[in-house]
Amino acid sequence: MKIEEYLRSRAAEVDAALVELIGEYRPKVEPKLLEAMEYSLVSPGKRIRPILVLAAAEAVGAEARPLLPFACAAEMVHAYSLVHDDLPAMDDDDLRRGRPTNHKVFGEGIAILAGDGLLTEAFAVMSRDRAAPPVERRLAAIRELAAAAGAEGMVGGQTADVLAEGRAADLPEVESIHRRKTGALLRACVRIGALLGGADAASLERLSRYGETIGLAFQVADDLLDEIGDTRATGKQAQRDRARGKATVPALLGVERARGLLRELRARSLADLDGFGPNADPLRGIARTVVDRAL
Ligand code: IPE
Ligand code: IPE
Ligand code: MG
Ligand code: MG
Ligand code: MG
Repeated sequence: MKIEEYLRSRAAEVDAALVELIGEYRPKVEPKLLEAMEYSLVSPGKRIRPILVLAAAEAVGAEARPLLPFACAAEMVHAYSLVHDDLPAMDDDDLRRGRPTNHKVFGEGIAILAGDGLLTEAFAVMSRDRAAPPVERRLAAIRELAAAAGAEGMVGGQTADVLAEGRAADLPEVESIHRRKTGALLRACVRIGALLGGADAASLERLSRYGETIGLAFQVADDLLDEIGDTRATGKQAQRDRARGKATVPALLGVERARGLLRELRARSLADLDGFGPNADPLRGIARTVVDRAL
């Protein structure tokens, strides 16, 4: 199967599961809150994080479909992070996924609460009794997501990102920001799929390295697309990082050297998968897709 086709069909599975999940909340949740959560959760994103959960499980020979609730949880954490990232107090963005940002539609208070709801409910979804894998594996997956989203991971990275605005940063600092604000969640998605799929220690180790590499590549590509991309392709306003004085790889190295780094990261992420057979082809395709859209 071609990677484009794979991504399309996995994204459709995830979308259906997200719609069903939101439906289950409908009778129980304050309607305005649910509307705001739904607005940012089911809007058209690439679904890379949930697809990584599923593809990593496949890479270790496990069945992907029973892991859909965990894939949804990863997308819920991601959606929350976007809602908060766009707030006036953070990146102050008006456009997300080709639509007005959550706070533009619902106001800041509701947007903050919708983010809170998405983040918290992600953990509720993962700890539901009816989720398929054995309880120790589910506990390991919950721990992964919490560590990646929390103070040492994404929240810490977002803090460092805000604190670095408007001043010079060197490459190690930018990499450290990128690895935490974006890389940690992507790596966790790969590890969650592998852990739930019953990976042995050696496979888990190699897949973690792959996740780390594409995690960094993902934010370098995002920085490049902000600099050179167009709104029609990204669904976001262009050159916002430059306007806000963000610490980015293209700001530091220039566009061509940033692309060189991206090519290096692509090669490294594919090398991380050496030793895996055709079951890991979707992960290989994801690595190429993530990078190639910014080259
Ligand atoms: C954007 O993530 C935020 C970053 C961490 C760079 P995506 O590029 O995956 O956004 P969607 O989900 O496809 O909209
Ligand atoms: C976002 O990085 C990282 C998150 C944790 C959301 P960016 O601020 O570059 O993401 P975009 O460009 O707004 O999607
Ligand atoms: Mg940001
Ligand atoms: Mg942003
Ligand atoms: Mg960006």
